[in-house]
Amino acid sequence: MKESVIEPLEGLVKEPYASILCYPQPSECEAQSRIRELEMHGVTAIEFTGKGNILNLPVLGKGNVGIVVAAYRYGQRLALKIRRMDADRADLFHEAKMLTMANAAGVGPALVEAGKNFLLMQLVEGDFLPEWLQATSDKTIMRQVLGELIEECWKLDLAGVDHGELSKAPKHVIIDVYGQPWIVDFETSSEKRKTANVAAICQYLLMSGGPVSKRAVEILGDRDRDGIVKALRHYKKEKTRDSIDQLIQACLY
Ligand SMILES: Nc1ncnc2c1ncn2[C@@H]1O[C@H](COP(=O)(O)OP(=O)(O)O)[C@@H](O)[C@H]1O
Ligand SMILES: [Mg+2]
Repeated sequence: MKESVIEPLEGLVKEPYASILCYPQPSECEAQSRIRELEMHGVTAIEFTGKGNILNLPVLGKGNVGIVVAAYRYGQRLALKIRRMDADRADLFHEAKMLTMANAAGVGPALVEAGKNFLLMQLVEGDFLPEWLQATSDKTIMRQVLGELIEECWKLDLAGVDHGELSKAPKHVIIDVYGQPWIVDFETSSEKRKTANVAAICQYLLMSGGPVSKRAVEILGDRDRDGIVKALRHYKKEKTRDSIDQLIQACLY
């Protein structure tokens, strides 16, 4: 991993920082306007750190809409999502609204501030789900963590927020050192779509045939596919505590 750099707000006009603020279309004027926006949000410095890499600087992550770095605000270390200049979104307000709804259900990193080009939220540190699964061979721990993840999806289903990117979620679930799963990136979420978070995550975790489900089956043993499908069908009819418990049982035990 590249060495971390903490750059105070005033220093962000310099390269390559300015180009990251305006990625991937460097613009001095836009960089200055974005620095003013950050100042309004109370950001005092940005920390370039993490497993991702942009313009030879480490970052927490990169997607099609945003670049995520660490940032300091009133002494707190937070995650800062920077809207990419080529994003197919004019602002981050929709994501902020979806994250607020998720937060109300007890899910997702806590939102701190939102604006046109930036989101400030709780910084989640840990491993992405596929790497975490590779490093875990304890059945009990795996059941606890994946069970908790399915429960988080249940909470989102009940809150009426469809995440939208959980059926293939290698970078949207982070497991922290306490074994707490965190669902991130509510950019493609919707309150209008029919919610399918539980169905999507069960599919991804146990039935997709990809590396994640292969690993889960390797540790947990062969799954009763028909049993999972039946429990899912029942859950879709009534999203109760009982039916989610039965689904978790079918998926993980
Ligand atoms: N709150 C957070 N804490 C730590 N890392 C995060 C956080 N939010 C996002 N990330 C990382 O940054 C990456 C890109 O963010 P994401 O919201 O997925 O952007 P996009 O909407 O462009 O896909 C994520 O895949 C994840 O690795
Ligand atoms: Mg993403």
